[in-house]
Amino acid sequence: MFPFLQPNHSAADEYVLSFITLLIRVGGLKKKEALSSLQSLANMPIVSTYQEMKKFAFDVGILAIFGHLECSYKEMLKHNYNIVDKGYNFFPMNLPGTSYHRALMARKRLKTTVSEIIRERREKSILKTDFLGHLLDVKDDKGRVLTQEQIADNIIGVLFAAQDTTASCLTWILKYLHDNQKLLEAVKDEQRAIYEENSREKKSLTWGQTRNMPLTHKVILESLRMASIISFTFREAVDDVEYKGYLIPKGWKVMPLFRNIHHNPKYFSNPEVFDPSRFEVNPKPNTFMPFGSGVHACPGNELAKIQILIYLHHLISKFRWEVVGGEEGIEYGPFPIPRNGLLATFRQHSL
Ligand code: HEM
Repeated sequence: MFPFLQPNHSAADEYVLSFITLLIRVGGLKKKEALSSLQSLANMPIVSTYQEMKKFAFDVGILAIFGHLECSYKEMLKHNYNIVDKGYNFFPMNLPGTSYHRALMARKRLKTTVSEIIRERREKSILKTDFLGHLLDVKDDKGRVLTQEQIADNIIGVLFAAQDTTASCLTWILKYLHDNQKLLEAVKDEQRAIYEENSREKKSLTWGQTRNMPLTHKVILESLRMASIISFTFREAVDDVEYKGYLIPKGWKVMPLFRNIHHNPKYFSNPEVFDPSRFEVNPKPNTFMPFGSGVHACPGNELAKIQILIYLHHLISKFRWEVVGGEEGIEYGPFPIPRNGLLATFRQHSL
């Protein structure tokens, strides 16, 4: 699905490294994204939390890929990406008038916009160390660079992989915290201490502080376990494999079900109870895989966690939210989200 990653460790490692470097650099900018997203939320009546989190995750994705981008490009990318997002999962019938057809057309326009951005960078000799800069630089063993089609594919792939997953995770966190008020108070205490220190010293949230939010971090891990946003994956047996007396012949498709593992009482006691304290002890190897495993494990895992931590810090320090309607249930679109995207109101407050 994401052709830019070569199936070997060094390419994946290099990619992960470039992401981590990138997120250290854009940490300050994400604060701006988080705050402006939250401020606009506070002026709205009832919103779908998921749709609002998608906007935030999209902005962070654009920032990570292109650095600062001209508004007109950003709007064009957003408009066409939304059309792709609505249509990619429809029955693949390429007939005018269908959502799938509209998605294919929008995909072409996305590629044109990305090509335009690349052309401008080359014409003006703009060198950037963002994700696009990395894709433009990268060469394989034979010195070949990526084609524009491959670069566009990578960018659309990353936007896709980053947006709904992160937004779904944030939405579940807000629901779980809302449903566990005592826990929410404890998380508030943790964030309040950092917020007050920074207000006193007139400084912004630092990288070190994001590394030192133990309870909030455990809440994220437990939300990832409970919601198991990517609930399964596909693999192919590259050889005959014997497992518990069964033979999986070479070439067969295998579907590891992460959710079943995450909800197995053998590995997580009372698995249906939201309990971040279970992460005080590291889970047994291969029992907790919210970001997958192996060479195709999620390269955006650290980026996802840091952006969620930054968002939660600002949300919990300066805002409060109320879930409206109290509807229970799950929707799949295709990732699991609370019903109706968790309708809620957000208001600014001081601690
Ligand atoms: C909470 C948020 C996220 C979750 C739960 C998540 C989960 C996952 C999982 C489970 C996989 C592995 C799928 C498989 O094995 O078939 C994956 C792959 C991937 N993720 Fe994420 N992800 C998240 C955020 C992100 C972000 C923020 C980015 C990029 C900025 C990203 C980029 C990717 C890419 C490119 C792949 C494909 C890797 C490959 O095929 O080699 N993800 N993600």
